[in-house]
Amino acid sequence: MSGAAMADQALAAAKNCMACHAVDKKLVGPSYKDVAKKYAGQKDAVDKLATKITKGGSGAWGAIPMPANPQVNDADAKKLAGWVLSL
Ligand code: HEC
Repeated sequence: MSGAAMADQALAAAKNCMACHAVDKKLVGPSYKDVAKKYAGQKDAVDKLATKITKGGSGAWGAIPMPANPQVNDADAKKLAGWVLSL
């Protein structure tokens, strides 16, 4: 794993994302590798996922909603979305 990817994983941990997500297995939410697979090749995916990260939402993976994450600013949300999509 590159240094940048490790920093992004640390950011995800600091923002509490890893309470519900893991890189390669489903917890409360989908694994980040499954998310990357689902949106592979979609060029608006970073913006779409960044919005979902800050505002929350449901329906993409099942009935369990992701709560809003107001502790994450837009720049960090884009960084996290880009990291998830890179996995
Ligand atoms: C309380 C549990 C919880 C926390 C905390 C959480 N998530 Fe989620 N996340 C979920 C659930 C559940 C889903 C599936 C929502 C759905 O089906 O649309 C999800 C979906 C996602 C998705 C895919 C969205 C989509 O539309 O396909 C991404 C990306 C994501 N989360 C990133 C994050 C990041 C980054 C954080 C930290 C800022 C975070 N999550 C914190 C539960 C959580």
